[in-house]
Amino acid sequence: MLAQSSVAQRGAVSRRAQQDLSRGVSSVTRSSSARSVLAHTSPLAACSGPAPFRAPAATTSGRVAARSRRGVAPVVCQAAGEKMTVAITGATGLVGSRLVAKLAAAGHKVRVLTRNPASARSKLSYPGLEFFGPADWARGVEGATGVVNLAGEPIATRWTEDLKRSIKASRVGATTAVVDAIKAAPADRRPKVLVSASAVGYYGISQTATYSEDSPSGRDYLAEVCRAWETAAQGVTSAGVRLCVLRIGIVLAPEGGALGKMLPVFQIFAGGPLGSGKQWMSWIHRDDLVDLIMQSLSNPAYEGVFNATAPKPVRMSDLCSALGNILGRPSWLPVPEFALMTLLGEGASVVLEGQRVMPTRTQAAGYRFKYSDIGDALRNLRPILR
Ligand SMILES: NC(=O)c1ccc[n+]([C@@H]2O[C@H](COP(=O)([O-])OP(=O)(O)OC[C@H]3O[C@@H](n4cnc5c(N)ncnc54)[C@H](OP(=O)(O)O)[C@@H]3O)[C@@H](O)[C@H]2O)c1
Repeated sequence: MLAQSSVAQRGAVSRRAQQDLSRGVSSVTRSSSARSVLAHTSPLAACSGPAPFRAPAATTSGRVAARSRRGVAPVVCQAAGEKMTVAITGATGLVGSRLVAKLAAAGHKVRVLTRNPASARSKLSYPGLEFFGPADWARGVEGATGVVNLAGEPIATRWTEDLKRSIKASRVGATTAVVDAIKAAPADRRPKVLVSASAVGYYGISQTATYSEDSPSGRDYLAEVCRAWETAAQGVTSAGVRLCVLRIGIVLAPEGGALGKMLPVFQIFAGGPLGSGKQWMSWIHRDDLVDLIMQSLSNPAYEGVFNATAPKPVRMSDLCSALGNILGRPSWLPVPEFALMTLLGEGASVVLEGQRVMPTRTQAAGYRFKYSDIGDALRNLRPILR
């Protein structure tokens, strides 16, 4: 089921469609009649006031989004106490497991769409969780309020040709499977939204350019993977389902993630920048990513592409000096590329090369980052850095 899909068969998305996706205009929702269908069939219809990509100031019911004390915009459009049922692929991973915990804590129902229900059960245990294996994903999405698609073979590992194929095929395959499952549901039992992961690798790499959601895609391998991944997700819009694609930056989380891979090398080499130090790191704290996913589920203003990156990307040398300050280590000896290549092979490109990505549309839609500053984010993760 998770084998690579034939994107061509499904009708490759044209350049125009890719641009529409970036602007948040799907072929379905471009028409006002389709928009009104969505407004009437969505359980969130009462808050379908703002057009896509306008900063949501107030709901049609007059509820203005209050800001929490730490500056994170709360879920804007979900009526107070209204519970969602959310189906999630990749729920067992670094991001998914935290999302499950937050949704469960808030009283929402969670359905875990996994390759292996037995293994997923051993990783996630919250009251009321339901587990669905690949043959059962259609049942898993039917009747759900929304679907979050996070599945994919890990990237920051040693790449082989086989693994590169799997990195792409796992994402396109899982996304196609989830889109097919959504489309197979009867219209009145179909989820209203698909929040689908992509990555900032979409833009390619550069030490000088700044990318926003409207920027064109790059030419390298990861850009190609992201395009195919997003194209597979785009298929859901023909069924009148709102699509929100999140181009995710390097996720900083207590369990490690990319940072966890960098730390041992950083420590061996007395805390200098990895590689040239000039490469950009567009990062996001996992708490912000999870909050953004929750907002994307419940707020119809999130339609199209959004960069899931903190508004202050940093160069690797700045990240390492912030890390050095927190760890009480100097940060001036560069870590040679060969050390990382030895550890990660070609997969080291995830930290040796980067791009400066701004969350332009994400902030315009009203999202307020809890962690904008790399120092604050790293200080929050300090307990695991020692
Ligand atoms: N973490 C980052 O820094 C970062 C940055 C940019 C983009 N992203 C993207 O965001 C998504 C979530 O990231 P994450 O860090 O939480 O990922 P993760 O920890 O690697 O977890 C991804 C999940 O995908 C499923 N999976 C793993 N290998 C698979 C394969 N070969 N085929 C199909 N499914 C597979 C697994 O779920 P089951 O075993 O339950 O099926 C796994 O728990 C990923 O798609 C990732 O590419 C992450």
